[in-house]
Amino acid sequence: MSAEQDTAERKRWEEEREKIASMIAHEVRNRLSAIVTGVDILEMGIVNNPSVYRGIREAVQKIQEVVTRFLIYARPGIPELINGDINLFLMEVTTNLESEKRFSRVKFEKDLTGESIKIPFDRDMMRQAMIDIVLNSLDAMPDGGILKVRSAKKGAFIEVRVIDNGIGIPRDKLGQIFQPFYTTKKENIGLGLSIAENTVKVHRGKIEVKSEKQKGTRVCILLPLDKKKE
Ligand SMILES: Nc1ncnc2c1ncn2[C@@H]1O[C@H](COP(=O)(O)OP(=O)(O)OP(=O)(O)O)[C@@H](O)[C@H]1O
Ligand SMILES: [Mg+2]
Repeated sequence: MSAEQDTAERKRWEEEREKIASMIAHEVRNRLSAIVTGVDILEMGIVNNPSVYRGIREAVQKIQEVVTRFLIYARPGIPELINGDINLFLMEVTTNLESEKRFSRVKFEKDLTGESIKIPFDRDMMRQAMIDIVLNSLDAMPDGGILKVRSAKKGAFIEVRVIDNGIGIPRDKLGQIFQPFYTTKKENIGLGLSIAENTVKVHRGKIEVKSEKQKGTRVCILLPLDKKKE
């Protein structure tokens, strides 16, 4: 690496570090003040109001979630690639999500190739990636909608597609969605797609997003079928 490249890389990392630090501070600080307010109310003797306890619990849960996500992003770890049936796995993950209350207004359409397709993959990482992609679709369809989950063999790959008919992504923003901390949502930190992209990368796959404003979004993941003998 040349001296200029080295300096540029260091500068980029410094900027990234500052961004991460201020994000953590912001996300955690807001919730801590909610907790302090709740405790103040309890100390004043108002102990019969369930919303105070709920507020404290929610703030604590949010801090846990934010910290966990930052850690997954910062230290994704070495994937544990274990041979398994990816179709069966996709069926399990989507069926579980479908049964959740928050998806009650979303109609799931599953079109997963019936056959058993075995590939090496890290179940936890892949589950998180699928959840994040599907949750993005849910966020994009606040009044409900249709969510299609499809899989099909495509050459040396299995292609997994998640398609929603939600609000879509403006063309000029499409290039930013994989950037860490890019978010258009108030309560989120913008790490879902960065984490999903890394997961696909460590599986030697590809992830692509196509979207049209007001029409919907299509996330395509290609995962290699071959078992690499290493
Ligand atoms: N299916 C989708 N429909 C519309 N917009 C989307 C979709 N998926 C992603 N986006 C856009 O891309 C942005 C980045 O997505 P990403 O999942 O990385 O972060 P997030 O959902 O905002 O936060 P987090 O995933 O950390 O909770 C979103 O804020 C949203 O603007
Ligand atoms: Mg997300």
